Formats: sequence, structure tokens, C-alpha cells
Amino acid sequence: MASARSVLVLTLCLLFCSPNSLFGMGNPLLDICATVDKDLLDKYALKPNDQILAEDKHKALFEELVKKFKVEYHAGGATQNSIKIAQWMIQEPHKVGTYFGCIGKDKFGEILKKKAEEAHIDAHYYEQDEEPTGTCAACITGDNRWSLVANLAAANCYKKDKHLDLEENWKWVEKANVYYIAGFFLTVSLESILKVAKHASDNNKLFCLNLSAAFICQVFKDNLMQVLPYVDVLFGNETEAAAFAKEQDFETKDLKEIAKKAQSLPKVNKKRKRIVVLTQGKEETVMALSDKIETFPVLPIDPKDIVDTNGAGDAFVGGFLSQLVQEKPPNQCVKAAHYAANVIIRQSGCTFPENPDFN
Ligand SMILES: Nc1ncnc2c1ncn2[C@@H]1O[C@H](COP(=O)(O)OP(=O)(O)OP(=O)(O)O)[C@@H](O)[C@H]1O
Ligand SMILES: *[C@@H]1O[C@H](CO)[C@@H](O)[C@H](O)[C@H]1NC(C)=O
Ligand SMILES: *[C@@H]1O[C@H](CO)[C@@H](O)[C@H](O)[C@H]1NC(C)=O
Repeated sequence: MASARSVLVLTLCLLFCSPNSLFGMGNPLLDICATVDKDLLDKYALKPNDQILAEDKHKALFEELVKKFKVEYHAGGATQNSIKIAQWMIQEPHKVGTYFGCIGKDKFGEILKKKAEEAHIDAHYYEQDEEPTGTCAACITGDNRWSLVANLAAANCYKKDKHLDLEENWKWVEKANVYYIAGFFLTVSLESILKVAKHASDNNKLFCLNLSAAFICQVFKDNLMQVLPYVDVLFGNETEAAAFAKEQDFETKDLKEIAKKAQSLPKVNKKRKRIVVLTQGKEETVMALSDKIETFPVLPIDPKDIVDTNGAGDAFVGGFLSQLVQEKPPNQCVKAAHYAANVIIRQSGCTFPENPDFN
């Protein structure tokens, strides 16, 4: 039986988050998870606790996983994960989260579409037939250590003029109030990001970006700096923040100083001051908000309850977005971010529990 409290929570949610109010765009990958033996790791020269991009020598890995092991499929990719977590936090209504990205017209693409549907997100993929659907092999060994091998394939082929610009797709962008794109997508379609970012800025909506990786701040610095003036909320972890600070000649390694300096970089929409949110694993999260730098301790967890910290960053962002889209204040967003990350690190990377217990 629904309690008065849950009815209230549901009513509030229905008031504040309508379908398609959160928009994400990125690299969709089908996660293929399997518990494997050491022989397989050796055969493909994989190391535990490693994340790599697939090379030619890994091509057969994906088929071998499916043929020889019991695999589980999940809709993956950093941005899609964060949108999924946000939807999971919100629960009802379904399809608050919209997601765009490029996949292939193939079996893995069909599975990905089904998995996105099961996660109750509204995925509108650009389907093309030159490249196969992107995949990420998650090879788990007995002691809960992971080796991730990502093959972007079709995810690299997103095209603004073939998808984003089309009336029937752009309408989903217009429907949203909050936008989130991980920095990884800067390597795929800068023009798509800029179109969405400008739309957000012109309409005083919220555009959020994640630094995503040190190489984004370094190798894709020019692309990043073209988008940054439109960014209302900037996420990153300590490693990424340090790389960003170095590239920008901030001449400081202090996370709070970095947050402050990133906040004061040029911004197009002057009606909102930028928020910068920097995580540092088990240490407190730093947030630059209006004229203050605030810190928020993470939720305590017994180290023996930590099963797998993969995806903690994606979960953090998802939790944050789940509140932002309900127009909650930033400190509430950080609280939800810490909650989501805390739940996810207790689970083996392939799963998350049925229902959240956050309020
Ligand atoms: N060891 C830990 N103890 C408690 N909380 C943690 C721990 N590691 C991660 N978290 C939670 O996850 C959030 C994000 O973690 P972190 O800064 O490590 O992200 P990340 O480096 O991007 O992770 P990943 O790349 O593995 O997804 C933290 O703010 C915290 O809430
Ligand atoms: C931050 O994230 C990157 C990947 O985006 C990861 O390689 C790095 O280890 C993370 N830093 C910390 C301190 O967890
Ligand atoms: C995104 O931001 C989070 C939180 O600040 C960070 O921990 C993570 O490394 C970033 N990663 C990705 C994959 O976008």
C-alpha cells in the first residue's frame, strides 16, 4: 500500500519533472558483462582494473565473450549511464530522460534499444549501417576486479545534419530544461554540442558538461574551450580538474582555487553564474557556487562494502541531474549525487537495485 509520504513524493515529482525534461547526448555503448577466467585475460593481454579502447587484437574478444560466457547486456556509455541513474532516482514519470547517440543497424543495436527501454529512458538513436553498434566488454574476475575494453564504432559516427537537425529529433531538445553531455562527445560532434549548448543559453536553460578525462582537457582543449562559455554546470574529478588547471595555466593545484577559476572563465548567459562541481573519491566534494566555495563530505561507507567503484562518477552526475531537473537547490543536488554514488559502489558494476531510497 502506498504511504502518504510516497504519494506526496510522487505528486511533487509529477509536478516538477515532466517527460523529456532532461536531455543527454553521447556515445551509446552496449555493455557486455561477463565473469571470465584468467586465460581469457591473458589471451587478449588484459589487465585487471584497467580501461582501454579496443585495438585490432581485441576484435574477437566481443564474440568470444558472447559465445563462451554467460553475458549480461546493459545500456552503457558515460552519458547514457548518468541519464539512466537520473531516471532511476526519479522513477516516475518514465522517460524524463531523453538520450541521443549513434548506433548501428544490427543485433547489438536492437539489444541496446531494448535495454534503454527497460531503463525507462527515451532513447532516440541515429541508426546508420556503416559502422556496428559500439560495445564495451566488461570482463569481471572472481575478486570483483574489472577490465573494460570499449569499442566506440558507430558511437563515433553521430552527425548533426543526419539526426540532431531533423525536426522530429530537435523537438525533443526543445522540450528539455536541463542538458547534460560528457566531455567524451567533444571527440565526436562538436557542432552538435554547440547547437544544443546555444539553444540552452538562448533560452536560459541549464547546460551541464563533464570534463570526463584528462585527455579531453589536453588533446581536445580547443573544442572544450568553444563549449565552455555555454556551460552552467561543470563536473569533473580531481584528476581531470588538475589536467584542466594545468592546460589553462591556472598555476594552482588547490582544488578549491581550480573550482573558483573555472567558474570565472567567460560565460555567455550572464543571468546565471556557473557552478563547478569537483569530486575526489572518498574525500569531500568541492562546489563553486555564486561567490562561495563549499565542500560536502561524501556518505561514509565501510571499505568492505565497496564492491566496485567503476561508474561512481557517472552515478554522481546522474544523482545530481535528478534533482537539478526538479529545480532543487545545488546542495540538494550534491546530496543526491553522493547518495547515488554510494548505492552504485556497493553493487557489481552491471547492476543497480530496483528502487532508490533517497529523500
Ligand atoms: N572510496 C569511496 N568511499 C566513499 N565514496 C566514494 C568512494 N569512491 C567514490 N565515492 C563516491 O563516488 C563519487 C565520485 O567518485 P570519484 O571522484 O572517484 O569519481 P570518478 O573518479 O569519476 O569515478 P569513476 O571514474 O570510477 O567513475 C564521490 O564523490 C563519492 O560520493
Ligand atoms: C578520475 O577519472 C578518470 C577517468 O575519467 C580516472 O582515470 C581517474 O583515475 C579518476 N581519478 C581519481 C582520483 O579517481
Ligand atoms: C564526470 O564527472 C564526475 C563527477 O564530478 C567525475 O567523477 C567523472 O570522472 C566524470 N566522468 C565522466 C565519465 O564523465
